[in-house]
Amino acid sequence: MPIEDIHQLISELEKHGELKRVKVEVDSELEIAEIMRREMYSDGPAILFENVKGFDMPVLGNAFGSMKRLEIALEMTDFTEIGKRITEMTRMEIPSGFLNKIKKLPELSKMSNSFPKQESSGPVTEFTSASASFDELPILKSWPNDAGKFITLGLVATKHPETGVRNLGTYRIQILDKTHALMHWQKHKRGADHSEISKDKGEKIPVAIIIGGEPATIFSSIAPVPEGLDKYLFAGITRKEGIKTVKCKTIDVDVPANAEIVLEGYVDPSDLRDEGPFGDHTGYYTPVEPYPTFTLTGIMKRKNPIYVTTVVGKPILEDAYIGKVIERSFLPLVQMFHPEVRDFSMPAAGWFQGFAIISIKKRYPGQAKKVMMGLWGMGQLALTKMFVVVDEDINVHDINDVIWAITTRADAARDTIIINNTPTDTLDPASPLVNLGSKMGIDATQKTKEEGYEREIQKPVKVDDETRKLVDSRWSQYEL
Ligand SMILES: Cc1cc2nc3c(=O)[nH]c(=O)nc-3n(C[C@H](O)[C@H](O)[C@H](O)COP(=O)(O)O)c2cc1C
Repeated sequence: MPIEDIHQLISELEKHGELKRVKVEVDSELEIAEIMRREMYSDGPAILFENVKGFDMPVLGNAFGSMKRLEIALEMTDFTEIGKRITEMTRMEIPSGFLNKIKKLPELSKMSNSFPKQESSGPVTEFTSASASFDELPILKSWPNDAGKFITLGLVATKHPETGVRNLGTYRIQILDKTHALMHWQKHKRGADHSEISKDKGEKIPVAIIIGGEPATIFSSIAPVPEGLDKYLFAGITRKEGIKTVKCKTIDVDVPANAEIVLEGYVDPSDLRDEGPFGDHTGYYTPVEPYPTFTLTGIMKRKNPIYVTTVVGKPILEDAYIGKVIERSFLPLVQMFHPEVRDFSMPAAGWFQGFAIISIKKRYPGQAKKVMMGLWGMGQLALTKMFVVVDEDINVHDINDVIWAITTRADAARDTIIINNTPTDTLDPASPLVNLGSKMGIDATQKTKEEGYEREIQKPVKVDDETRKLVDSRWSQYEL
């Protein structure tokens, strides 16, 4: 049985020595965030703060802050499995004929196991009220110059106003007062798109902010799943079992039944106010920018909810590990569109949208550039600032191997492309304008005659088999 909720996750993490409890009183204003950062920078455990000043609700931090914890949470060690499950579904031909249909039944039912199931109640409906306040929650202030308290691991549920396809996106939310907040969905994200469509219709958009849920649902909210694919279905595919949903009480939005807390309300896309500054993933304070307001209309929660949070800042913090899982899980999908791609890495220091390395099996001239241009047109990869494309013999996860490829196979003038005035990540502190900047691509693959490289292609040095075997067999004699 996959992990159902945060309470079960806590006991699993504890069982594996991956969680510690802090019993002394701690402050949600700056203190908890600093403890969480120190533990993340020193490879520490997840932390359950049991005694938070002024609140009777515990706070869980760094729950997904290591590959081991993510393996426990998502119950797998090879995260490419997630992408493989999706690509397998697209390969499944529709059976014709009665016998073929029967033969395909196990595969079809495996798929339908992943569908979300609507329930009339669930743990999160234990307490519901139309009068709610953000003051009930131990929301953190993370950095001294942050504009205030921010929900940092809220799953923001919206419905596409025309197709009804459900989305979850993790966007930070700045608290303004008891019932108002600012929704930081960046321009290129699905939540922002839903909101813009509502704005065009002259409407406000119903929004639920979810705290907690199945680990796979939390992961699904961060994963860059293309519009059209229901994020609740994606969560079910990730955990191989559909999640249970319930309806909100004051708005028409479905939410995970196993959540800890659901904050119901709506975003008014026409009511923009100054959001930020906020100490961000890049390691800098993102300056003030206008974002739309969220108004709280109700709350659903468990009897004993746990507030789940994260802290961002200069890499490497918790988000880096989640990003690694996204990188692994989307590799099969990248390969579906670009079969020459062998591997793919987004080093955490580049806060994911900054820098990516792709290895390919090159078969024709200019192929590295074709891959770059393809990926710059693919979902959130469109926001990646720099791509380096290498040959398949280069290990994309070994930065020394990558630097060796760049410095021995790329010529700066010939193999660097710069494209100006492209969409960039909203958080990029270096782009000339917010959301608009340039891309750099380095083709660090070996150039061929067809690509105009007239020189002799130099062979990489490699030990011969005979010498390698000799040294292997005598290794202990050298007493090194
Ligand atoms: C801890 C954390 C905080 C995030 N905060 C934001 C945010 O404030 N705004 C935003 O647009 N994306 C934010 N993201 C990234 C989105 O969650 C991510 O791009 C996701 O794929 C968006 O989902 P969507 O494609 O459905 O919009 C955050 C990610 C993490 C891990």
